[in-house]
Amino acid sequence: MGKIRVGLIGIGNCASAIVQSVLLSKKKGIIEGLLYPEIAGYKISDIEFTLAIDVDRRKIGKDLTQAIFEGSNIFPKLDDYSPIGVTVQPGPVLDGVAEHMEAYFQPHDMKIEIDDIARLVKDTETEILVNMIPVGSEQATRAYAEAAIRGGAAFINGIPVFIASDPTGYWPKRFFDAGLPVLGDDVKGQFGATILHSALTSLMRDRGIIVEETYQLNVGGNTDFLNMKMEERLSSKRISKTKAVTATLDNGDRYIYDGKVRIGPSDYVPFLGNTKVAYIYIKGRSLLGFPVELDIKLKVDDKSMFAAVMLDVIRLAKLSLDRGLRGPIHEASAYYFKHPPKPVRSPLEARILLEQFITGKQRNTVIENIVSYTQ
Ligand SMILES: NC(=O)c1ccc[n+]([C@@H]2O[C@H](COP(=O)([O-])OP(=O)(O)OC[C@H]3O[C@@H](n4cnc5c(N)ncnc54)[C@H](O)[C@@H]3O)[C@@H](O)[C@H]2O)c1
Repeated sequence: MGKIRVGLIGIGNCASAIVQSVLLSKKKGIIEGLLYPEIAGYKISDIEFTLAIDVDRRKIGKDLTQAIFEGSNIFPKLDDYSPIGVTVQPGPVLDGVAEHMEAYFQPHDMKIEIDDIARLVKDTETEILVNMIPVGSEQATRAYAEAAIRGGAAFINGIPVFIASDPTGYWPKRFFDAGLPVLGDDVKGQFGATILHSALTSLMRDRGIIVEETYQLNVGGNTDFLNMKMEERLSSKRISKTKAVTATLDNGDRYIYDGKVRIGPSDYVPFLGNTKVAYIYIKGRSLLGFPVELDIKLKVDDKSMFAAVMLDVIRLAKLSLDRGLRGPIHEASAYYFKHPPKPVRSPLEARILLEQFITGKQRNTVIENIVSYTQ
């Protein structure tokens, strides 16, 4: 198979997990814990990093294999790596670094334009850009989406800014018109709180249980959680996480209006590091109104959860490019993102769509929808 030329934006803990997984797979042949060892012939060892962008002075100018251990990154070093010749380049800071995060991300003070990034994308022949900057980076994410379009790369948006799922249709149409795929938004971790919560609520719905109320509280101890202490940066994260669950329930938005659902990052507990602890509570009624109640605690390494998904999505973006697909790739986004272009009713439904997409049995139907409502 051909190589997959990937640019990473935001060289934080998620990037470290992705880069190390790829480098280890090149060395060992295969690594454990992948959702798909192979997607349409592509293995994760086919991924080549061609571009890396960050704003942290301690990461800029370093080889990617070194930058992943700099600054506030705490994802463990799993092996020794030789330099790969990809030096971290400065990106535009914009709203990427909240005031309370300045000591943690130590941003540069250079003026970087969208066209600087677009030029880097072109010069390095990067075909896919992956966005992994802090939650709340609305302007910066849009700047990178624009740079992807101008530079001619597909865009994967790992964070809760609505690009692939932009309700105004602006970004879907921009990517469609540019002939480029866009996948997103906001990664749904491999076995994280969102996939577990939505699997439970969709199972309850299928089994005739009437869900009455539910919450999901999440705590963690890395810069991702520290950044999310600022509630103003969180609004789209709450929407994204909440809608992923309410989409599985009949008349799901009612739970939001009635205040019967509360989902989101809840606190920063420094000693947890990259371990995320999620508490999920669901209360419902069965036949004749008898109560059903569920309390679950989940504990995972949040960054391996992200990387496992992203390693699939990168290969799906490549498959989309190979097939000449453009605009939001709904079928590949529904299974892997909390806020996809079109919500699905259950993880199973999303999985079926995905399988059909990989085997080429499903067209990228959302393209027609977007074109019809934006014309
Ligand atoms: N399971 C998960 O970990 C998960 C799931 C869904 C979404 N996400 C999201 O993925 C993103 C990355 O997570 P992380 O743990 O790697 O974060 P992190 O805090 O470890 O790293 C963020 C990086 O972004 C850099 N950055 C800040 N502003 C930037 C800008 N304008 N341009 C380029 N780089 C910039 C920072 O310097 C830092 O290196 C976060 O938004 C997180 O919420 C993570």
